[in-house]
Amino acid sequence: MSNPHIHPDETQLTAAEKAFENNIRPREIAEFAGQEGLVENLRVFIRAAAMRGEALDHVLFHGPPGLGKTTLSRIVSHELGVNIRETSGPVIEKPGDLAGLLTSLEERDVLFIDEIHRLSTVVEEYLYAAMEDFKIDIMIDSGPNARSIQLNLQPFTLIGATTRSGLLTAPLLSRFGIKSRLEYYTADTLQHIVERSAQLLQTAISPEAAKEIAGRSRGTPRIANGLLRRMRDFAQVMGNGKVDIAIARMGLKALNVDEYGLDDMDNRILSAIIDKFKGGPVGINTIATAVGEEPGTLEEVYEPFLIQEGFIKRTPRGREATDKAYRHLGRVPPQWGGSQELFTK
Ligand SMILES: Nc1ncnc2c1ncn2[C@@H]1O[C@H](COP(=O)(O)OP(=O)(O)OP(=O)(O)O)[C@@H](O)[C@H]1O
Ligand SMILES: [Mg+2]
Repeated sequence: MSNPHIHPDETQLTAAEKAFENNIRPREIAEFAGQEGLVENLRVFIRAAAMRGEALDHVLFHGPPGLGKTTLSRIVSHELGVNIRETSGPVIEKPGDLAGLLTSLEERDVLFIDEIHRLSTVVEEYLYAAMEDFKIDIMIDSGPNARSIQLNLQPFTLIGATTRSGLLTAPLLSRFGIKSRLEYYTADTLQHIVERSAQLLQTAISPEAAKEIAGRSRGTPRIANGLLRRMRDFAQVMGNGKVDIAIARMGLKALNVDEYGLDDMDNRILSAIIDKFKGGPVGINTIATAVGEEPGTLEEVYEPFLIQEGFIKRTPRGREATDKAYRHLGRVPPQWGGSQELFTK
C-alpha cells in the first residue's frame, strides 16, 4: 500500500536519479508549469529589477520536497541573465566560507543557499549585513595585529530554499523581500509535466497513461517524473516501448504505488492515528513519537498533503483520521466500528 520506490526527498536520490532530474528540469520560466500566482509575481519582480538595473530582492522559496524550489531558483537567475552560485546551509561551516562565496559574486548575481534552515547561528548572523547593506566585515592579520575591515560587496540576490521555514529565525525571514510558498500540483498540471518529460526522454506515452501517473504522484513533480522513469522501463521490457494505460496500470501495481501515491511515512502516520490512538484526536508530538519522526517535519513535510487531500483533520484537540483514511487503509470508519464494538461487547 505504499510507495517505497519513489521518494520525494532529494537527499535520497541516487546519482543517476539526480542526473535524470537535471536533464528534464525546465530552464526557462515559460517551461515551468503550475504555481501560477507565484510565477506571475516573480515575472513582475524580475522585470522591475531589470528595468531599474538593480539586483532582485532576496527570495525565499519554501514548501515540501520535490515541488520545484531548486528549479525555480535556477530559472530566476536565468531570467535575470546572471550567474548562480549554489551552496547549501550545512556546507557553509564558518563565516570565512560565506565571505569567500560573497566576494566571488559579480554585480546582480544570485547566491543560492539550499536548506537554508541548516545555517549555523554564526554564519546566519554574518549573512545579515551582507543581505541588508551588501557589506561584510573580514578579519585581517592574526594575533595582536588582528583587526577587522569592512568590505563592500557587489549588490546580489540571495535565494534561499527550505522545506522547513518554521525553523527560520525572525531576523533572517525579515531580510527576504520576496517569500514564496510552493503548493502541491493539480493532477492536470502533473499530467502536462509527465508528457513534457516523456517528450524530452523520447518516450511515447498516451494521455491516459500520463493522467494515471499524474494522479498517483502525491501532487509532486519529482515523484511524477520518477514514476515515468520506471514506467518507461516496463514499457521497454514488457511492451513495445510506448507507455500506454495498460503498461502504466501494470507498472504502478508492480511498484505497489497506491491510489493516491501516498508514501511509506504517510501510511505510517495514518495507521498510527487509527490503530494506536483510535482515530484521534491526538497531538502532533504524540504522533511524531509513534512514527519516529520530528514533529516539525511531520507538520511541514508530510501533514500538508494529508490534510489537503482530506486524510486527516486538524482540530483544536489534535489530529483526527477521516473516513477516507480508514477506507484507504482498508479499515471500517468509526461510526460503523463503534456500533460493531457495541455488538461484540
Ligand atoms: N513546475 C515544474 N514543471 C516541470 N518540472 C518540474 C516543475 N517543478 C519541479 N519539476 C521537476 O521536479 C524535479 C524536482 O524539482 P526540484 O529539484 O526543483 O524540487 P525542490 O523543491 O528543490 O526539492 P527539494 O526540497 O528536495 O530540494 C526536477 O527534476 C524538476 O524537473
Ligand atoms: Mg531542491
